Amino acid sequence: MSPRTTCWDIEKHTRAKHLILRRYLQAWLPIMTSWSGRVLYIDGFAGPGIYNGGEEGSPIIALKEAILHTAKIKSEVVFIFIEAESDRHQVLKQQVETLSIPSNMKFNCIHGRFDEHLTQVLDYVGEQKKTLAPTFAFVDPFGFSHTPFSLISRLMQNRSCEVLITFMYEEINRFLAHPDLPDRYDVLFGCTEWRDGIKISGSQERKQFIHDLYMKQLTATARIKHVRSFEMLNDGNRTDYFLFFGTNNYEGLKQMKSALWKADELGGFQFSDTTDITQSLLFQAVPDYADLKQRICQKFQGRQVRVDDLEKFIVIETPYRETHYKANVLRPMELSSPPELEIIHRTGQNRRGTFPSGTMIKFL
Ligand SMILES: C[S@@+](CC[C@H](N)C(=O)[O-])C[C@H]1O[C@@H](n2cnc3c(N)ncnc32)[C@H](O)[C@@H]1O
Repeated sequence: MSPRTTCWDIEKHTRAKHLILRRYLQAWLPIMTSWSGRVLYIDGFAGPGIYNGGEEGSPIIALKEAILHTAKIKSEVVFIFIEAESDRHQVLKQQVETLSIPSNMKFNCIHGRFDEHLTQVLDYVGEQKKTLAPTFAFVDPFGFSHTPFSLISRLMQNRSCEVLITFMYEEINRFLAHPDLPDRYDVLFGCTEWRDGIKISGSQERKQFIHDLYMKQLTATARIKHVRSFEMLNDGNRTDYFLFFGTNNYEGLKQMKSALWKADELGGFQFSDTTDITQSLLFQAVPDYADLKQRICQKFQGRQVRVDDLEKFIVIETPYRETHYKANVLRPMELSSPPELEIIHRTGQNRRGTFPSGTMIKFL
C-alpha cells in the first residue's frame, strides 16, 4: 500500500535502492561530464526528499552526489524533480533549498506528472531539433500507473540516455486479472501480450513470464542495447519489485554492476541479478567463482577466445564483473594439474597466471 502521508518511514529495500543509486551516480557523473558540457538527471517520481527518520530521498541523494563529488564536476548538471502530490512537492522544494548549490548546477522541482512533463521535455527537444543531453532517468513509482512504456522507449531513442526503473512486480501481478485495468497494463507494457500471463497459475512461471515480457519490450521494442534486471526480495523472501536498468553504453553497464556488487555491504537485504531469471544470482559479499567458472565453461568449452571477448561476455551476459574472472577463475584453471586452459597466444610480457588484453586462451 502506498502511504498517504507527506513523508513515510523508509524501508530496507529503499535503503538498498538508494545505495545503488548513490554508487552509480558516483561513477556516472564524472564519466558523463568528462565528455559532455551538460548532463541531465531526471527523477520522475521524486517524493518529498526526506523520510520520517530524516533519511534523504532520491533527489537529495543525487544532488549531494554531484555537489560533493571528489572529481569536481565542471559541466552543467541539470536536475529535474517531478512530484505529483503538492504537499510532497512543497517539502521537496524546502529540502532542496537547504543545500548550497554551485552555479554550474541547476534544479527544477516540478509539481506534476512524470509522463506529462517528460513528454513536454522530449517534444521541446524534438521541435527545436536539438539533441537531448546525456540523461539519467530514475523512474520510481509506488505502483504502475503513469509509467508508459512508449515514453520510456521514446526517451531511450536518445542513445546517451540511461534509465533505472522500479517495476512494482508484486502489485503488477496482483491486479493482472482485474477487469477494469487492461488499458493501464497495455500502457505499462506497450503491448497486449501480458494477457497471456493471466492464464499462468504457477507463481514462479508467472513471475518469469511478466519479467521476461518487460525485458523483451525494453530490449527488442525500445532497442536498448544493455538491459539488466535485479530482483528485490522482502522479508518473507517474496519478490517485492524488480529494478530494470537500461543503457546503450558498455561503460554504463560496467558501472551499474559495480554499484550492485558494492550495495551488498548494506546487509540485511537480499537482491539478485535476474536478467536471465533461470540463472538468477543472489548478490553476496564474495562472488560465487565456481558458478562463474561454470558459466564460462558452458559457453567456451573446447573453444579459443580472446580475453577481451571473454570479458565482454562476462560483463554483458552474466551477473559478474570484469574484476571477477582473472585471478579467481582463469588463474586456477591455468595452474591446475592437468591445466584446464591453454594459452594460445601470450602478449608481450604476460607471466603464467596473468591475462592481459590480447591474450588468446583455449578452454580444454
Ligand atoms: C516511491 S515514491 C518516490 C521515492 C523517491 N524516488 C525516493 O527514492 O526517495 C513515489 C512518489 O511518486 C509520486 N507520484 C505518484 N504518481 C506520480 C506521477 N504520475 N508523477 C510524478 N510523481 C508521482 C508519489 O506522490 C510519491 O511521492
